[in-house]
Amino acid sequence: MRRPFVAGNWKMNLTLAQGKALAAAIAADCPAGDSVDVALCPASPYLLPVKDAIAGSGVQLGAQNAYFAAPGAFTGEIALDMLLDVGCQWVILGHSERRQFFGDTDALINKKLIAARQKGLGVIFCVGELLAERQENRTEAVLETQMAGGLADVDAAMFEGVVIAYEPVWAIGTGVTASPEQAEAAHLYLRNWVRSHYNNAAADQLRIQYGGSVKPDNAAELLSQPNVDGALVGGASLKPEQFLPIIQAARGIVK
Ligand code: PGA
Repeated sequence: MRRPFVAGNWKMNLTLAQGKALAAAIAADCPAGDSVDVALCPASPYLLPVKDAIAGSGVQLGAQNAYFAAPGAFTGEIALDMLLDVGCQWVILGHSERRQFFGDTDALINKKLIAARQKGLGVIFCVGELLAERQENRTEAVLETQMAGGLADVDAAMFEGVVIAYEPVWAIGTGVTASPEQAEAAHLYLRNWVRSHYNNAAADQLRIQYGGSVKPDNAAELLSQPNVDGALVGGASLKPEQFLPIIQAARGIVK
């Protein structure tokens, strides 16, 4: 049984006051014991104030990135221990913006993912193809490379805390959403990948979020697909009036 999981990726947005107000508004509508898992992933300076704003609610805390090494001389980086220290349950790894602008390769993502799982942190592991790759019918080949690279040396026990986010890069921040059929086909491919590389239980329990221009008006249809178990939401997670209806669309869906 898979609980739906909706995460808000705030990216490098909002002021402190805006972040606190947004987190409080989401927390007010997501009580502990809710039928959906919800996480907020603010920029690092806002992790602690957001943690305070969501205290006592059902909302969980996530970070957008981390470095794999133990605390030490790595100027500008954030250690996994630090994320745990401030109450994070999740870290997003492999987001396409990290891959595109900050040189996160499959090998680096793999190191981060292993380190995060060794620390017991949940990982939202992002994969997805570029527009040109889809147009050249290479979507599955790209997903295969990203999965094999990101999950190298990750055994079934370590994989248990991993959620996969399928985010076609051409749909991120563009207003263009993958059709429900396109999303379902990619999610099914990813679940079958896990089935063949791990086992049936890992595949059946794996939660796969869709990400890329999820909005209140397309969330229900995407979430109704058999292999879509939640959403990783960027732009629409910055406004309660957009994010709360997406969470509502996920409530009660159990696959
Ligand atoms: P978007 O971003 O919802 O703004 O398209 C999604 C993401 O990058 O996680």
